[in-house]
Amino acid sequence: MKNDEILSQITDFCRRSDMAETTFGRRAVNDGKLVHRLREGKRITIDTLDRINGFIATSTPGGVAPPRGLVVPPEKRDPRGNFRFFENRQRYLLFVHTCSEKRVIADRVALELGAIHPRPPALRVFDAGMGDGTVLARVLRAMHGRFPHMPFYVAGKELSLEDVRLTLDKVPDRLFEHPASVFVFTNMYYAEAPWLTPKNSAAAASMIWHEVALRGASSGEFEAQIAELGPFLEQNWRANLSPGNAMPIYERPVALVLYRDDHRFLLDSIIPRAGRTEANFDLVIASQPYRAKSSVNFRAKRIIAPLARALRGGGRLIGIHSHGSDPGLEMIQASGPEKILSPSAAMRYCAR
Ligand SMILES: C[S@@+](CC[C@H](N)C(=O)[O-])C[C@H]1O[C@@H](n2cnc3c(N)ncnc32)[C@H](O)[C@@H]1O
Repeated sequence: MKNDEILSQITDFCRRSDMAETTFGRRAVNDGKLVHRLREGKRITIDTLDRINGFIATSTPGGVAPPRGLVVPPEKRDPRGNFRFFENRQRYLLFVHTCSEKRVIADRVALELGAIHPRPPALRVFDAGMGDGTVLARVLRAMHGRFPHMPFYVAGKELSLEDVRLTLDKVPDRLFEHPASVFVFTNMYYAEAPWLTPKNSAAAASMIWHEVALRGASSGEFEAQIAELGPFLEQNWRANLSPGNAMPIYERPVALVLYRDDHRFLLDSIIPRAGRTEANFDLVIASQPYRAKSSVNFRAKRIIAPLARALRGGGRLIGIHSHGSDPGLEMIQASGPEKILSPSAAMRYCAR
């Protein structure tokens, strides 16, 4: 949707509702200058557009969507559900799987492997927001190619249950090819996840620590046992909206530890234990770890700083974030709230 279409939708609404444009911006997206910025030609994210549409739809008397057919009703999502409710998963996954961005990112991350100096007992890597695990799986393949006989400690943070499921799908093959691996997945915040330690004592008391030693030696056997984790994840990998700032928060902190039982002896000193954990990462991957609307201060203080503290001396942190005006953003915006690009269209965008 173009800026002038969004603007005319907002001004129509404001006229009908007798609402000032600054009030609209504040109430819809917590930004009193929204309309001013749109008039200046500034672009907005799909998330902001969804919130604008949602605000108009829910503020229209009787819940009737305004005329002109421009407004898409907000998605009916249960905020107590397990989905990463502030994003549109279909669009994200379409993007991940129909363009080369994540491969290019993984290739770039893999270049860092030449600059790290792992120390016994393991090479330690942390993915600060795994998403569906595409980037992590590719990086792990490259790590195996470069360090085939080194034990790996692979930790990742992800709040979304759906994304954790998708990442877990990639684990059996990694465990088959690189048996000396310990995987640790958590839903904790940036300042907690690398250390697997919640800051708040009530959260720490409610923490769930789940260790699974996978039996067998084939990827099929590992996959079957990982699939059995479904009910556990369903029950415990839950997110809510913070009442204060509507940010997603975990219900209970969870650490899920996976490794091959037939490598337990070798991995003993690497397997984390509740209350006995360390960060000391050789490599931290921060690929698209923050929302476009978060402030630079927030990104630096709340995300990058704790991740930097999680590095061991000589460790490397690689950050990847969209700066806008790139083919990826253009593609996401072109997909609009009401339609999804066909894979071929997506690829055409990314080929540019
Ligand atoms: C935890 S983050 C990143 C996950 C993973 N590290 C990756 O790079 O895909 C997942 C969210 O980042 C956002 N995202 C991923 N790639 C993006 C891109 N190129 N531009 C903007 N946002 C992106 C999407 O909203 C997605 O739901």
